[in-house]
This record gives sequence, structure tokens and C-alpha cells, in this order.
Amino acid sequence: MNFLELAQARRSLRTYLDKPIEQEKLEYILESARLAPSWKNLQCWRFVLVEDTAGRKALAECMSESNPGRKALMGAPMVIVLCAVPSESEVWEGKDFMMLDAGLAMEHLVLAATDQGLGTCWQGLFSEEKVREALDVPGNVRVVAMTPLGYAAEERRPRPRKAMAEIVFHGKWGGLV
Ligand SMILES: Cc1cc2nc3c(=O)[nH]c(=O)nc-3n(C[C@H](O)[C@H](O)[C@H](O)COP(=O)(O)O)c2cc1C
Repeated sequence: MNFLELAQARRSLRTYLDKPIEQEKLEYILESARLAPSWKNLQCWRFVLVEDTAGRKALAECMSESNPGRKALMGAPMVIVLCAVPSESEVWEGKDFMMLDAGLAMEHLVLAATDQGLGTCWQGLFSEEKVREALDVPGNVRVVAMTPLGYAAEERRPRPRKAMAEIVFHGKWGGLV
């Protein structure tokens, strides 16, 4: 699979098989996240791996019942919670590079999971405070996002994306490619 095929294969998957994740696959995925670039190479990200049913249930309960990702957290064998340490990044001219750094590492993780035949689904809509309590995350650390990880029990067609001309300009803002 070349990189474009990998990007095309990644989908947000919300139903999972009751099948464990091989240790070597997990290590491959986490190592891919570890290698992400970051502001001043400060690597603000931390990952909490939650496998037990009670732990995943507690995380699902941090989400609203209308969030379609909620059932994914219960169905997958593992949930990976993305945390970030603000003192290990910076806000520069109003731009929060901590969120960017953490997001880069998470997307490395997500794409590496796709590469290993595993499904993921970014989750952003949850009560940070409740997750903090459930996982004992200290007050000076942000809980940024989470994802279920496991073998998907569904195939999904790609969701639409903006046309290239809407997002890529040539030479200056608005310039036609
Ligand atoms: C930062 C972020 C937060 C997201 N939060 C949620 C969420 O809380 N619940 C959910 O079901 N999907 C969530 N998603 C998944 C998006 O809905 C999904 O990526 C988008 O619809 C495009 O679909 P695709 O990922 O299958 O290409 C989130 C995605 C991102 C990048």
C-alpha cells in the first residue's frame, strides 16, 4: 500500500470485532506515534491505553449518548487516550502548537493502525473533566482526544472531501492552480 492508498483506506470506524490486538502491531503503532514531529521537538504527547471493560465503559460514559463514537469505545478491545502536557509545547502568536503536536502524533498512530489492518475513530466530543477523573490524569495535563483501536467489523465508503480547487491556491491566496 503506498501512502495515498493508506490515506484512502483510513476511515472512522465505530464497530469492532471481539478480537485482540497483536502486541507487535501495537508496538508498531505506538512507535509510529513516537516519531511524530513537534514544536522544538518537545513531544508533549502521552498515550493512556485502556483495555479492561470497566475502563472502556467509564470512558464511554464521558461522552454524550448522541455521540456515535460512544459505542465504538465499548466495542473495541482497546481505547487509546491522547493527553498533552502544555509545558512541553507553546502558544505562539495565538497558535496553540500543543494541539497541533498532539494531533500529529495521533494521526501518525491512526495511519499506522490502518497500515496494520486495524480500525480507529478520532473522538473529540467528551467531558475532559470526567476522563481526567476516570484515568487519574493530573490537572496540569490536557486530555485532547481518544480513539478505539481494534479490528473493524464494518467497511465504510469514503466521506466526501472539498474539491482540490477549494483548498489549494497557486502563488497567492485565491490563485488558480
Ligand atoms: C478532532 C476530531 C474529533 C472527532 N470527534 C469525533 C467524535 O467525538 N465522535 C465521532 O463519532 N467521530 C468523531 N470524529 C470523526 C469525524 O467525524 C470523521 O473524521 C469525519 O466525519 C470524516 O470521516 P472519516 O474519518 O471516515 O474520513 C472526529 C474527528 C476528528 C479529526
